Amino acid sequence: MDTSTFEERKTIATTIRGGMHRNLRHDSAHKHVAGSADYIDDMPEPAGTLHAALGLTDRAHAEIVSMDLSAVEAYPGVVCVLTARDMPHSNDISPSHLDDEPVLAEGLVEFHGQAAFAVIAETRDAARRAARHAKIVYNDLPHAIDVVEAREAGGKLVTKPLTLSRGDAIHEMPNAPRRVKGEMRIGGQEHFYLESHIAFAIPGEDDDITVWSSTQHPSEVQHMVAHVLGVPSNAVTVQVRRMGGGFGGKETQGNQFAVIAAVAAKKLNRPVKFRPDRDEDMACTGKRHDFLVEYEVGFDDDGRIHAVNATFAARCGYSSDLSGPVTDRALFHADGAYFYPHVRLTSEPLKTNTVSNTAYRGFGGPQGIVGAERMIEEIAYALGKDTLEIRKLNFYGEKGSDRDLTPYHQQVEDNVIGKLVAELETSAEYQKRRANILAFNAGSRIIRKGIALTPVKFGISFTMTAFNQAGALVHVYQDGSIHLNHGGTEMGQGLYTKIAQVLADSFQVDIDRVKITATTTGKVPNTSATAASSGTDLNGMAAADAARQIKERLVAFAAERWQTTPDKIAFVPNHVLIGEERVPFNDLVKLAYFARIQLSAAGFYKTPKIHWDRTTGRGTPFYYFAYGAAVSEVSIDTLTGEYMVERVDVLHDVGRSLNPAIDIGQIEGGFVQGMGWLTTEELWWDAKGRLRTHAPSTYKIPLASDRPKIFNVKLADWSENGEETIGRSKAVGEPPFNLPISVLEAISMAVASVGDYRQCPRLDAPATPERVLMAVERMRAAP
Ligand code: MTE
Ligand code: MOS
Repeated sequence: MDTSTFEERKTIATTIRGGMHRNLRHDSAHKHVAGSADYIDDMPEPAGTLHAALGLTDRAHAEIVSMDLSAVEAYPGVVCVLTARDMPHSNDISPSHLDDEPVLAEGLVEFHGQAAFAVIAETRDAARRAARHAKIVYNDLPHAIDVVEAREAGGKLVTKPLTLSRGDAIHEMPNAPRRVKGEMRIGGQEHFYLESHIAFAIPGEDDDITVWSSTQHPSEVQHMVAHVLGVPSNAVTVQVRRMGGGFGGKETQGNQFAVIAAVAAKKLNRPVKFRPDRDEDMACTGKRHDFLVEYEVGFDDDGRIHAVNATFAARCGYSSDLSGPVTDRALFHADGAYFYPHVRLTSEPLKTNTVSNTAYRGFGGPQGIVGAERMIEEIAYALGKDTLEIRKLNFYGEKGSDRDLTPYHQQVEDNVIGKLVAELETSAEYQKRRANILAFNAGSRIIRKGIALTPVKFGISFTMTAFNQAGALVHVYQDGSIHLNHGGTEMGQGLYTKIAQVLADSFQVDIDRVKITATTTGKVPNTSATAASSGTDLNGMAAADAARQIKERLVAFAAERWQTTPDKIAFVPNHVLIGEERVPFNDLVKLAYFARIQLSAAGFYKTPKIHWDRTTGRGTPFYYFAYGAAVSEVSIDTLTGEYMVERVDVLHDVGRSLNPAIDIGQIEGGFVQGMGWLTTEELWWDAKGRLRTHAPSTYKIPLASDRPKIFNVKLADWSENGEETIGRSKAVGEPPFNLPISVLEAISMAVASVGDYRQCPRLDAPATPERVLMAVERMRAAP
């Protein structure tokens, strides 16, 4: 007879496959490689499927005097042409509800490439060819393409600016022993998801319509389709199994394609697919905001910051879209990891005659941090010191010190930046390598090297408090298999895998028993975009809540049937301990079914603690911070401006990792993507406002050959989230995008070596080879 106690039997040595905190491959990894992961364009097309294409305008700002579409309509294969007037209820899809984003331009064109009509044809090719046959007469209006032109034209804003202030930066600035004033341009970025935008609409009976959309935000697509069609939300179902990358570019930018496909599908009562090609996608969907940062920083002779006053002006494009929250987040991160005793930060979300800029990994945060790190560089070069020394001097203090308040008056409670940076400084041998590089540069005429260590502190939560909620729907079937659905979307980041791990852990069953199903508005309603890195935090907790409800019912049932108490019942690997008995999970489920126990539950979660008052600029917008640091070493060729990233060492904080393999993948991917942003990816509009970098031929994302030659990525294995997040983990999606600021600064140091480190090179981003060469030439010419 088994004489072990209940507590002993609970801790038997077997484990489940794939619970939390395990290395587990992405659930679709093998399918991505084999080509068997289904994307929307892979769906079998029902008979009668039609295809859509956009009719683009070619003026940055103009009145449409007349539009003759007869040749488009007459083109072979064309079934119909839609204009603004064909939108049944509304022509607006502004996600900020400011009524400033038409589905199709009506009377007024506000950027080169704005769509004025859509063609629906029997084939995609016919739709695209027909779209070129419109005769549009314009009356040109003055246009403003960038931040400088927008200011010259009066500085129209797309949304209300934000000011964050603490202390008195204006009056305290002159009291600082030293001051530096400067400006920096930080470029935008094309998302370059591998799968471009796509929508597929299939009409149903009455008002009904189902739309498959490559979107991070199915609920918003649902609302936009309902709004434009003039039907209630319950008539519209939006579905997405996965995206081939989103990176923020599919938070709002899929709305137009989905809405046009839906309107055409309802009008013609036929399925309509809408897949723009790469050039079109690049020309007519929004990108990362580029910024002009103007700063003044006051500091003492040691390099300790006294006051900061900075303006963050952004090219927002023609409409508001998400520019309000994006420029807000830039300010929320303009402190980097540093305490500013006196600070004043202002955003300037400028309206320009360009495509409306949108979310992109980091959501404005990276631009804010780049600004902060530039100020650190300025101080270091002004004092002839190493930037790392200045950084350490200015880090936030421990909780409760007089250096723990952010410019938005949130107390930094979980600060680990000092510990993290110290560990990385040692493990990457920063000091020794820096000394070697200084010696190398002194003796090298053409090749110069640079090294930099930059920290990351990134705030986690949507700053719009209401978005911090999530739902999940969990069914346990009679055979013990589990069906999981939640509001988050999968874009390659591994969210589905992590949430399945959460469920496996909750029920203590092998992960292969959990089926992850496509996100659909019909199962979990009123979801937020999968964004702000909070997909796992929110949906993981919602899924755990659903599991808890089902387990509670199973426990109550077992206690009654086995005549025991709930404390004598425990979920152990693939079994349930009930007093003396060890019942297979499947058997218990089957018995529960016959006892008429509900085996399905809807879970819900809302983030505690957070609040934010934009009018006063005060609050606790973030539940916690994610931290990280990177050391990058580069070499540049001072005759050509070309560079190589020789070595990168990363130490990153994801709390208690839910899945180290996936988290390291996110860090590596985020790093390389951020490196592309700050080095080779350059967006360029000509004087007429036409985007000339609209294809991979003219826009350079990192290649495999551009990756750091040595790339060491480590998780801070001692970290645990101080807040009660799922498994005490931390969000990982966006924070690592900021790590490659170290690459930009290492390039900057290599450039500075040409001028004997006497001057801050003030390198703008992206630091393309041309820009590096020009900076080298400036250094050479400097007195
Ligand atoms: N990783 C992959 N592979 N593909 C993506 O599109 N998007 C990033 C990040 N990592 C992205 C990605 C962005 S912008 C965000 S906000 C988060 O993933 C969203 O997912 P999460 O909240 O589940 O981390
Ligand atoms: Mo990410 S920019 O929040 O989608």
